[in-house]
Amino acid sequence: RSAGIIGAPFSKGQRRGGVEKGPDLIRAAGLREKLQAQGCAVKDYGNLTFEEVASDEPVGRVKCPRAVGSANQRLSEAVQAVKKDGHTSVMLGGDHSLAIGSIHGHSAAVGELSVVWVDAHADINTPLTSPTGNIHGQPMSYLLRELHSKIPALPNFSWIKPCVSARDLVYIGLRDVDPEEHYILKLLGVKVFSMSEVDRLGVARVMEETCDYLSAKVKKPIHLSYDIDAIDPSVTPATGTPVVGGLTYREGMYITEHLSQTGLLSAVDLVEVNPLRGRTEEEVQSTVRTAVDVLLGCFGRLREGNHPADYL
Ligand code: ARG
Ligand code: MN
Ligand code: MN
Ligand code: MN
Repeated sequence: RSAGIIGAPFSKGQRRGGVEKGPDLIRAAGLREKLQAQGCAVKDYGNLTFEEVASDEPVGRVKCPRAVGSANQRLSEAVQAVKKDGHTSVMLGGDHSLAIGSIHGHSAAVGELSVVWVDAHADINTPLTSPTGNIHGQPMSYLLRELHSKIPALPNFSWIKPCVSARDLVYIGLRDVDPEEHYILKLLGVKVFSMSEVDRLGVARVMEETCDYLSAKVKKPIHLSYDIDAIDPSVTPATGTPVVGGLTYREGMYITEHLSQTGLLSAVDLVEVNPLRGRTEEEVQSTVRTAVDVLLGCFGRLREGNHPADYL
């Protein structure tokens, strides 16, 4: 497998500065070298540059729609190029609004997808239900075919075609879901493993059931969208919307090990690392190190150890 890395230093899907520093911090922690050391080829496509939007007044409650729409259009094209070059796409955010372009581009290149969304939050508010207006709490609503009729037109969003079916989506790690989001999840019958299910079943059974559910009919390429706030803030505190009671480091790693072993992982997002939200340098480093480990797990790192096939 080879990794095609795209940096997306973008923060306008929410209101806190700093999350745009994520891509360079994750690189500086040695992502490329560590992937190569475990036998993974790497091509770094560098950071995307996003055009300044002169005036970006809210539309209804939705904040910065023009900037978010145009940034995601660029990202979608970049992900399509990485997939056409034959790599597993690795999108380093930036905030979670970037899942719009990442998933859209992935689907445009390879067709129908399974989406595994690892997060404390469901990020499935529509522009009308969002309590905050922040688009990082909304990306799945623009991507699901079943919600298409509920999404009003927004400036710079007209290029987005919903490309994911509700039955191809699984959530893991939820523990902060808005009432309207909960209604949407129940209405659409979306598969959810909240932290309660992780507690009840254990992470191994959650991953077995996730893969059984997603491959019940045909095996589709998997898009993993990993919000670092899925993991407990005692491990990954440097993030914009931390929520107590999250995944342990070990559970966070197990998810990536299991998905890597399916051989179906085709694109990964790693989002919401915000160094300005860490209270100490150690909090920032713990968050960034964990983000790197999540990505290493996606590319075959096993905690039992690894060795190349032709070692002896
Ligand atoms: N549900 C809240 C909202 O809609 C919080 C979303 C947090 N999302 C995230 N990607 N961290 O604004
Ligand atoms: Mn989140
Ligand atoms: Mn499996
Ligand atoms: Mn999120």
